[in-house]
Amino acid sequence: MIKRLTIAIDGPVGSGKSTIAKLVAKKLGYLYIDTGAMYRCVALKAKKEDIPWTDEERLTDIARNSSIKLENTVEDGEPKCLVYLDGEDVSAAIREQDIGQGASVVGKISGVRRALVPLQREMAAAGGTVMEGRDIGSVVLPSADLKIFLNASVQERTRRRHLELTEKGEMISIEEVIREVTARDEQDSTRADSPLVKTNDAVEVDTTGMSIPEVVEKIISLAHERLDKS
Ligand code: DC
Repeated sequence: MIKRLTIAIDGPVGSGKSTIAKLVAKKLGYLYIDTGAMYRCVALKAKKEDIPWTDEERLTDIARNSSIKLENTVEDGEPKCLVYLDGEDVSAAIREQDIGQGASVVGKISGVRRALVPLQREMAAAGGTVMEGRDIGSVVLPSADLKIFLNASVQERTRRRHLELTEKGEMISIEEVIREVTARDEQDSTRADSPLVKTNDAVEVDTTGMSIPEVVEKIISLAHERLDKS
């Protein structure tokens, strides 16, 4: 039987994780799991219910008692991940800029992480998975077959994030995006529980100046190396 790998992709905001992870999963015929979408769902639900993102108890409650489902699909040849929160399609709503910041705040709450991590492990249990986030190689799937740490310069990540938001019609200045990127970098890397780190066994890929197909090819070739060895 052909072995199906478990691939963990971690990295900061704007490193290209989602775009790259989706394409790698599609090429390999693997399941793509966006763990950031799950933290975003918790932040979105809290916002809808007027609960502050810092209310640890109620946020933990939301994470424990909500139904969060991810579904892989292809639209116009492009791989997409649909996100359902309590049965409602929130794929677009969770991508709003403030929800990204909220997810970063919510991600600091250990109770929230303790509720979401087992769901993530369950989703990856069958193998043939590309999972992206901040703590995948370090905490969620420490024995993943291949760990990638995607990175890019702050300038490049800010440029990408600005383009992503303005393409969706959000009116936002580059200065505001720099503030968002640096605030999330700081918050995600310095939190006490499961901070963003590059593990020793992860391969770091600096995507500054690399095209999307180049990054995808690099990861696919690393995956093939792992498959050849197994
Ligand atoms: O990858 P993203 O931008 O959709 O993630 C949104 C936020 O969610 C991120 O800034 C921190 C949090 N997050 C996390 O704490 N752990 C993960 N595995 C994924 C995301």
